[in-house]
Amino acid sequence: MISVRNGRPGRARLAALGAYVPERVVTNAEMQERVDTSDAWIVARTGIRERRFAAPDQASSDLGVIAAERAMAAAGISAESIDMVIVATATPDHLFPSTAVLLAHRIGARNAGAYDLLAACSGFVYGLAQASALVESGIARTVLVVGAEALSRLTDQTDRATCVIFADAAGAAVVTSADPREVTGFLGFELGADGAGADDLLIPAGGSRMPVAMAERPSDGYIRMNGTEVFRFATRIMVESTERLLAAAGLGIDDIDLVVAHQANSRILDHAAERLGLASERVYSNIERYGNTSSASIPLALTEARDEGRLTPGDLLLLVGFGGGLTWGSTIVRYEPVSGEPS
Ligand code: COA
Repeated sequence: MISVRNGRPGRARLAALGAYVPERVVTNAEMQERVDTSDAWIVARTGIRERRFAAPDQASSDLGVIAAERAMAAAGISAESIDMVIVATATPDHLFPSTAVLLAHRIGARNAGAYDLLAACSGFVYGLAQASALVESGIARTVLVVGAEALSRLTDQTDRATCVIFADAAGAAVVTSADPREVTGFLGFELGADGAGADDLLIPAGGSRMPVAMAERPSDGYIRMNGTEVFRFATRIMVESTERLLAAAGLGIDDIDLVVAHQANSRILDHAAERLGLASERVYSNIERYGNTSSASIPLALTEARDEGRLTPGDLLLLVGFGGGLTWGSTIVRYEPVSGEPS
C-alpha cells in the first residue's frame, strides 16, 4: 500500500463480519473418554458443552482464510482493495513468516501490507484499535482484521485443566473509511497489559527463551495455565475495563445494546453481567458450542449474533477481550454495516 495524507481522513467503520469454525465437533462426552473429567464438571465450571477442532491439515491461516473471505463478501469488497491485513493469533502457522502474510497471499490481497499481532485473547480488540487508527489517520482505507486460532494443536490433550477449554475457530472484520457525517464508528478503546501475570498463561517453549529443540519436556510446548489466577484477573478486568471506557466515553451501561466479550468461561460473563447490572440477554454467549477460541472468539460471537438477528443497525456494542500477557482491551462501536452486510 502507498499512503499520502492529502485529504481529510474518514471515520473508521466496522463494515462487515465473517467467521468459520472447523467441522469436527468434540463433545464433552468425547473429552470424558480422553481425560478424567465429566460433562457435569465441564458444564458447571466453564459452560462449555462442545467445541471444534481443526482437521489435521488445517492450521490457523486455513481457518482465517475462510473467515476473511466471508467478511470480504459481506462487505462487498475485493481482495485488491485491502490496504492492510492484521492477523491476531496466539497460534500462528509458524514463528515466521507471519500468518498474515500467508493469509494475504491466499486471499489475493496483493496490494496490502500484512502482519501478525500477539495479544492472546485480547488480540482482536487490539487489531480493531490498530485498524481504526490506520483508517482514521488516513494511512489506510480498508483494513482486514482476522482472529484465527488452532489452539487444539498447542494444548496438551492429556491435561484436563486445559484440553476441555481451548479450541479452534476464526473470525474476521473489515474496517473501512467512512464519511464522518454518516458513521459514528468506534467511540473509544481501552487497552492494557500487565506482564506481572505473564507466567499465569503461557507456552514456555517455541521462542528464543526455550527453542523447541531445547525443550526438556514435550509439555513445555503446550499451554500452561494458572486457572485460578486467570479467572480472578478476568472477572476483575472485564468489569474495570468496561467501567473505565464507559466513563471516558460519557456513557452508562444502559446505553449499550449488546456486550460481546471474549468467550472464556460462562462464569466470567455471568459475574461481569451481575457486577455491571446487565441483564443476561444483553451479554452475548456462544461458549457452550465453541469453548475458548482466544482471538477468534469475539469476531465469531459477533458474526453469530448478526446471523441470529441480535444486531440491529445503529446498536451500540461493547467488545471486551482479556487473556494471556496478561492483556485486556475493550471498545465501544456502533453497528453500522455496509448495505451488503446481512443485519
Ligand atoms: N475435569 C474435572 N476436574 C478438573 C478439571 C476437569 N476438566 N480440570 C481441573 N479439575 C480439577 C482440578 O484438578 C482440581 O482438583 P483438586 O482440587 O483435586 O486439585 C479441581 O478441579 C478444582 O480446580 P480449580 O482450578 O480450583 O477449579 P476452578 O473451579 O477454578 O475451575 C477453571 C477451573 C480452569 C475452569 C477456572 O479456573 C477457569 O475458568 N479459569 C480461567 C480460565 C480461562 O478463562 N482461561 C483463559 C482466559 S483467556
